[in-house]
Amino acid sequence: MNEMRTIETISPIDSMIDAMIDDRPADGVFRLDRRMFTDPELFEAERRHVFEGGWVFLGLACEIPEAHDYFTRQIGRHPIVVMRDGSGSLGGFINSCPHKGSRVCQLAHGNSRLHVCPYHSWTFDSAGKNRGVKWKAAGAHAPAFDELSHDLRRLPAFAEHNGFLFGSLVGDVPPLSEHLGEAAKLLDLITEESPDGIELVPGSVAFTYHGNWKLQLENASDAYHFTSTHPSYLKVLELRAERPDDATPRSVWESDQPWSEEAAGVQGGSYSFDHGHVLNWGLIPASPAHPMYDRVEALGERLGPGKRDWIFNMRNLTVFPNMQIVESAASQLRIIRPIAPDMTEVTTWCFAPRGESAAARRQRIRSYEDFFNPTGMATPDDAACYENCQAGHASGLVGPLQGYSRGIAATKLGGNVFSDKLGMTPAANVLADSQLCDETLYHNYYRAWRTRMRAGVAREALA
Ligand code: FES
Ligand SMILES: [Fe+2]
Repeated sequence: MNEMRTIETISPIDSMIDAMIDDRPADGVFRLDRRMFTDPELFEAERRHVFEGGWVFLGLACEIPEAHDYFTRQIGRHPIVVMRDGSGSLGGFINSCPHKGSRVCQLAHGNSRLHVCPYHSWTFDSAGKNRGVKWKAAGAHAPAFDELSHDLRRLPAFAEHNGFLFGSLVGDVPPLSEHLGEAAKLLDLITEESPDGIELVPGSVAFTYHGNWKLQLENASDAYHFTSTHPSYLKVLELRAERPDDATPRSVWESDQPWSEEAAGVQGGSYSFDHGHVLNWGLIPASPAHPMYDRVEALGERLGPGKRDWIFNMRNLTVFPNMQIVESAASQLRIIRPIAPDMTEVTTWCFAPRGESAAARRQRIRSYEDFFNPTGMATPDDAACYENCQAGHASGLVGPLQGYSRGIAATKLGGNVFSDKLGMTPAANVLADSQLCDETLYHNYYRAWRTRMRAGVAREALA
């Protein structure tokens, strides 16, 4: 890789894709060209190929539990509506009127048997079928008009895994089960937190930051930044710990979980999965600071000790390219939406196991407010760092980024004693103490990015 290449020497996208990532596993090298975060042409290509060229997360089935419920989202540049029809079936559609293109559904979510386009009142039912073309009989259309479908266009691929809904604007994608692979077991673990599954706490927050979408992607997997970026949050935790009424954390791990010798000294780690998904995690004992603490025993009886203990672990899961679930004392679902090379929207929800006590729910929401969102003690710190990085990335005169190096020498293929507890076999893993802070899991993002980009370029070349 030419370290002095500048923004002025932009190459065609297909050759640029390979040039962005200096990926030489045999040499222990992984570096990223800074233009990955700034180049407008590359950004447009990745919106087409990464977001509009494969599976992306859309939302949760529990957001639309009743017949005719719907929510609207976005895949790349395309407005999407996901609806539950009168028979209870879920469908994903392009939210664009076949008449003159207007968005049909205007709200973030709602319930409606019929959707009337705001421009000329063409009408669609909750299965996307056209139910009315205003003044059709008087319209003097040619017969060719009647040969057209006037329905909303269905997504070429739309599928559900255990309440998690995904869609794709291209049809030639692997089955969702293959796309999620072993990472699906982490989604399943989330839904198993309650025998009745999970639900969203009402309300959501969307915010933008002046930075590239991949900064958010990486940050959720970045254990290295925590003590540097969030000192005020850590100070608050320290002060709270001094309060005499705070109970001492109780380690279920040490008391009744016979981890093997392999786990000695381990404080967490990371897993990489096929298709770009990753988990970074921390070994956390069950403590009264966790809203599930009152159910330690019940969880153990229902799920066994392995899954019970994983539920109390800190788990940051990314399902490439746009979904993140952050689980600690609070649980956050995020959708990442790229808007411009230097502008990203993040939409967030607090989710929770159904049926938890009012006290546990209150504790969960308080923890959530503490840490997350533009009003919390962590999100603004992170956003400031993204904007600092974006400003720094603008300099094409500095060599490739070196922040992909930690953990290379500790990476092992397959799973380990911890993933075994979930019956899960990742592609690779790193076990870490409190300071290793693996950065190899970003490699997984960028290898999936490269695969989608190459496939998209090939698809366009054939079109
Ligand atoms: S654009 Fe929808 S009815 Fe005309
Ligand atoms: Fe952070």
